[in-house]
Amino acid sequence: MNGIVIYESLTGNTKAAGHIIADELTAAGVETIACPITAVDLQALSDADLVVVGSWTDGVFFFGQRPGRAGRLAGKLPRIDGKKAVVYCTYALDCGGTLDKLARIVRMGGGDVVGGYAIKRDDLFGGSKELVDRLLSALDATV
Ligand SMILES: Cc1cc2nc3c(=O)[nH]c(=O)nc-3n(C[C@H](O)[C@H](O)[C@H](O)COP(=O)(O)O)c2cc1C
Repeated sequence: MNGIVIYESLTGNTKAAGHIIADELTAAGVETIACPITAVDLQALSDADLVVVGSWTDGVFFFGQRPGRAGRLAGKLPRIDGKKAVVYCTYALDCGGTLDKLARIVRMGGGDVVGGYAIKRDDLFGGSKELVDRLLSALDATV
């Protein structure tokens, strides 16, 4: 099984989480690379059975949260028809509806979104590892 993490990051947290997720998946046997939405590795995407899409939370902290630069994300995400997908966001205080909105974008791109996880920016490693643990358990349950 192969994976790809595609992230949108402004100050580096979502990028860092994406690389942790890719490293943890690879260590578990799902060979995965991480790349920004502005430079998606199309060969890796085409080889991927699993697509993880991450974004940061943009809003006014307790209101109107949405994926950061959602328009660019939606516009640049290549078609991923039929591929299993997972979404994640990073946030400071409250991610509100960011994950649901991100899932909608990924579904519009053809992805079969099977889950999502919000990662608090003050524990990027713990949150990223938790996402991977949950994802691997879910994949185990489906094989
Ligand atoms: C313009 C702006 C708006 C933000 N709005 C929210 C918000 O509404 N809620 C929240 O929990 N975090 C908010 N944050 C915090 C970021 O989502 C958080 O720091 C995230 O990890 C940044 O990811 P990045 O480093 O990949 O850009 C905001 C950050 C910025 C720059």
